[in-house]
Amino acid sequence: MSPAGGVSVRRGGLEDVATVHALVSGAFGEVGPVEPPLSALRETVDTLAARLEDEEFLLIAEADGAVVGCAFCAPQDDAVYLGRVAVDASARGRGVCRALVGEAEALAREFARVRLTLKVRASMPQNIDVFRRLGFAITAEARHEGYDRTTYYVLEKPLG
Ligand SMILES: CC(C)(COP(=O)(O)OP(=O)(O)OC[C@H]1O[C@@H](n2cnc3c(N)ncnc32)[C@H](O)[C@@H]1OP(=O)(O)O)[C@@H](O)C(=O)NCCC(=O)NCCS
Repeated sequence: MSPAGGVSVRRGGLEDVATVHALVSGAFGEVGPVEPPLSALRETVDTLAARLEDEEFLLIAEADGAVVGCAFCAPQDDAVYLGRVAVDASARGRGVCRALVGEAEALAREFARVRLTLKVRASMPQNIDVFRRLGFAITAEARHEGYDRTTYYVLEKPLG
């Protein structure tokens, strides 16, 4: 558990996946149409459950007894890759994502990984600001297949 401003973060399991699916669908659904379409919106309860079976870890943020945020953490090489980071619209701007990233750092250290990494869509530049505030920096830009422009950035946070 990592309390921060009334927010606590725990590791989740299969029993949390239906709640997390609703959270991810809601948080990414309100972004509106972007190109290419958000893969997060193609997730189902089953595909999220499969992530856990593929040895990804699920972090669950709670506040006032309710689930307000989530992130999947996948150890990859010397890093932990963060995916499907989502915070309920009603709980934004109060450090929920910061608390999730803090717990992801703890998980990365536990597994002897030296950095966190994630991808941010070029069409969602506000998220670059969010993760910069949390210690990440852009390390690469790339494009989805079939696109002739940058469609996403890779961000990393080295762990000291
Ligand atoms: C992106 C998201 C996860 C941020 O969650 P959050 O809990 O509101 O973020 P936090 O409150 O922990 O804020 C983290 C930092 O970013 C800043 N921040 C938050 N929203 C911001 C915004 N829209 N623009 C710029 N900075 C922002 C905060 O001030 C904070 O910095 P500080 O602690 O130095 O003040 C949330 O907006 C969300 O779920 N969005 C929809 C799904 C999505 O885009 N997921 C990320 C995919 S990469």
